[in-house]
Amino acid sequence: MDRIVVLTGAGVSAESGLGTFRDKDGLWTKYDLAEVATPEGFAADPAKVHAFYNARRKNALEAEVNAAHEALARLEAAGALIVTQNVDNLHERAGAKGVIHMHGELMRVLCAACGATWDAPREMAVGEACPNCDGGPTRPDIVWFGEIPYHMERIVDALEACELFVAIGTSGEVYPAAGFVEEARRAGAQTLEINLEATGGRFDRRILGPASAVVPQWVDEVLGA
Ligand code: APR
Repeated sequence: MDRIVVLTGAGVSAESGLGTFRDKDGLWTKYDLAEVATPEGFAADPAKVHAFYNARRKNALEAEVNAAHEALARLEAAGALIVTQNVDNLHERAGAKGVIHMHGELMRVLCAACGATWDAPREMAVGEACPNCDGGPTRPDIVWFGEIPYHMERIVDALEACELFVAIGTSGEVYPAAGFVEEARRAGAQTLEINLEATGGRFDRRILGPASAVVPQWVDEVLGA
């Protein structure tokens, strides 16, 4: 199983009530991402950005894991790697231990001055000092548009060594994650997409349906349960 790399997106947490970004009524239909998900937006109005992430953190804390998170935790325990674009902690709350959060985490704070990170309070506010350098500004530990995703070396190494790459609940609209399927194909891996509908990615196989129903079935198939 240690040759399986799973990439998850907002679709894996959609049935936990966290919504997605680009579906009908998605987050980016309600907020201007330039104002709440870019360094420029944070510099211009940090209070607005904190309010946006405080609301998402509250939703994530009130959400329940779903059967897809639980099945993926079982697959990880058998050796698979989970890379997620999601910033919620539902994979962890379902028991996953080594999830790579390439877009950061709602439950962590980052000091923009010294790079220190620590667990986030329920609500963040403007002007909180960094406990490490007493500077700041402190910000949600989220990778914003225009910033470099985390752990890319580890992810590329895993893609180059994988035999099966599985994209679950992601539209494949945002790079570099959207390019992982091509990296896996170059490495000779089989590729599988699990989603409500087919996206534009070049996958060898597709399983269409809601993640909480089809992911546990697929994991059972893989684990030979
Ligand atoms: N089961 C499976 N797939 C689902 C479900 C579901 N219940 N509900 C929605 N989906 C699928 C949609 O069909 C879509 O392909 O999840 C995908 C959600 O796509 P996006 O909203 O674009 O979310 P995502 O791909 O995770 O976005 C990537 O963009 O805004 C940035 O940083 C943000 O991490 C995010 C990145």
